[in-house]
Amino acid sequence: MLSMLSGTHTPQSGGASPGGSQTGATTPIETHPEQIQHAPIQQSTKPRKRIVVAMTGATGAILGIKVLIALRRLNIETHLVMSKWAEATIKYETDYHPSNVRALADHVHNINDMAAPVSSGSFKTEGMIVVPCSMKTLAAIHSGFCDDLISRTADVMLKERRKLVLVARETPLSDIHLRNMLEITRSGAIIFPPVPAYYIRAASVDDLVDQSVGRMLDMFDLDTGDFTRWEGWEK
Ligand SMILES: Cc1cc2nc3c(=O)[nH]c(=O)nc-3n(C[C@H](O)[C@H](O)[C@H](O)COP(=O)(O)O)c2cc1C
Repeated sequence: MLSMLSGTHTPQSGGASPGGSQTGATTPIETHPEQIQHAPIQQSTKPRKRIVVAMTGATGAILGIKVLIALRRLNIETHLVMSKWAEATIKYETDYHPSNVRALADHVHNINDMAAPVSSGSFKTEGMIVVPCSMKTLAAIHSGFCDDLISRTADVMLKERRKLVLVARETPLSDIHLRNMLEITRSGAIIFPPVPAYYIRAASVDDLVDQSVGRMLDMFDLDTGDFTRWEGWEK
């Protein structure tokens, strides 16, 4: 790893300089080789990965809560945005108060704060998960109607070609829901309905939720290690 950073890091592999682009082998190298040798070795003080977590007013508040808990265990920096109806469902469906849920995140942004860091593409993140995602928020993201921080940040993820996972929850689904889901998938989002995997023969709702959350975070190449993966029929 260290050798990758020191020995083979040439100006070409380091990317374009602010002054102009690099066009290939015949392009003069502006930096003298001696300077490269004496350049300080970048220590791997990697910043923590960041993920935006949005919670909306679809049923399934526990899914969002467990995503936040899992990301905390995985040392991912979380940026939480909650809608008004997410707060209502948290209170109704779980033993958590919205303030307890906020305490699980590293940063919390008000849904009306359109100047929050996550509202800009220049703020680097791995992506965003909307969990659970209501049909109303799905429709807003689908149409690009960014009148709150959740739809604006999701819009940013799409334009920046970053990961956007929508844990869309409704049943049954109308043609409007289905069309929105299809079109938003074509725009690069991942629709991840929280549909239970019955083959795990869950002993509790908690087990079902953990399996779903594990599969959701698989979408970000993160392993919660909290559920059993399918390895073929049990012998
Ligand atoms: C208990 C409860 C459960 C709900 N479940 C769903 C749901 O599963 N899917 C959905 O699209 N809307 C559901 N709704 C309706 C949304 O909360 C409502 O459309 C709201 O405007 C969504 O706004 P938001 O996306 O800004 O949170 C539910 C509402 C309540 C009170």
